[in-house]
Amino acid sequence: MSFKHIGLLCSGGDAPGMNCAIRAVVRTAIYHGIKVTGIKRGYAGLLRGEFTPMNLSSVGNIIQRGGTILQTSRCPEWMKKEFRAKAVDILKHQGIEALIVIGGDGSFNGAMALWDEHQFPVVGIPGTIDNDISGTEYTIGFDTAVQTAIEAIDKIRDTAHSHARTFLVEVMGRNSSAIALKVGVCTGAENILLNNEKVNHQKLSDDIQRGMARGKDSSIIVVAEGPTAGRSYDIQNVLKDMYHLEAHVAILGHIQRGGSPTSNDRFIASQMGNMAVQSLIDGKYPTVTVVRSGKVLMAPLMECTKKADNNLEEFQKLAETLSI
Ligand code: F6P
Repeated sequence: MSFKHIGLLCSGGDAPGMNCAIRAVVRTAIYHGIKVTGIKRGYAGLLRGEFTPMNLSSVGNIIQRGGTILQTSRCPEWMKKEFRAKAVDILKHQGIEALIVIGGDGSFNGAMALWDEHQFPVVGIPGTIDNDISGTEYTIGFDTAVQTAIEAIDKIRDTAHSHARTFLVEVMGRNSSAIALKVGVCTGAENILLNNEKVNHQKLSDDIQRGMARGKDSSIIVVAEGPTAGRSYDIQNVLKDMYHLEAHVAILGHIQRGGSPTSNDRFIASQMGNMAVQSLIDGKYPTVTVVRSGKVLMAPLMECTKKADNNLEEFQKLAETLSI
């Protein structure tokens, strides 16, 4: 089938670079004579019929902007079959023949269901700062989020050194330690605590004290957020109550989700947006853009509907070894 009209939405947490992907989808589609309708606020906006026509200038001057001009949401209704059936009716009523979804593994499960239940053509583009989708080495936004966290921690290190302090710096990642691991190695952190790790306070305290004994002026412990943001405060309390160690807490939070995308994010998102449209033109769906062995490729969407196992403890060890 050759498509004349496609829909485009972002879903889940936003990520820097989503706008570059939106721009690439819209410009590639228009280049090939395909009409694009933007769907505001993800699957929730789709169910409410929040459509906006996209033209060349609606994606002008957005390549450098963080967030997503289409906005996004998490949509619990989408878990229910009847809402997905309603969405297909709405799409068809608009004349939309295929859908491109920029988001994470949950968003791709939602897209896959549209294909499985209604044979509605879908293509995914991985966008999440967490870099935690199976089947792809990279998700749009990760590089920018890591860069933002590194810049913040470098600043914290300055003051930590001046005052000879220990800092617990919490970075994002509910289900993923990818940001923590990369940021920890790149900032010379003394320790990295993984998102699903039961904290060994004794070891942490020994490491901090060993550093002090050999004359270190500061310690940075990077903490992956895990299921509940703010877990660093619990660790702070245990260090104080049981080991009489003072540690300061800095939670970086949503600052990591915003900001102008790095060149890596801009470049990969531009390639992915272009390839996603090409995949529909070539009749290849349900598919997803992925990075494998450093190259941007298309793969079956099914391969990217799970969380990646990115708890690479070797990086945790690397950070510890390099900071002795
Ligand atoms: O989008 C991924 C992410 O930023 C996770 O790293 C984080 O745990 C979560 O989203 C926060 O979600 P929300 O913005 O809905 O609180």
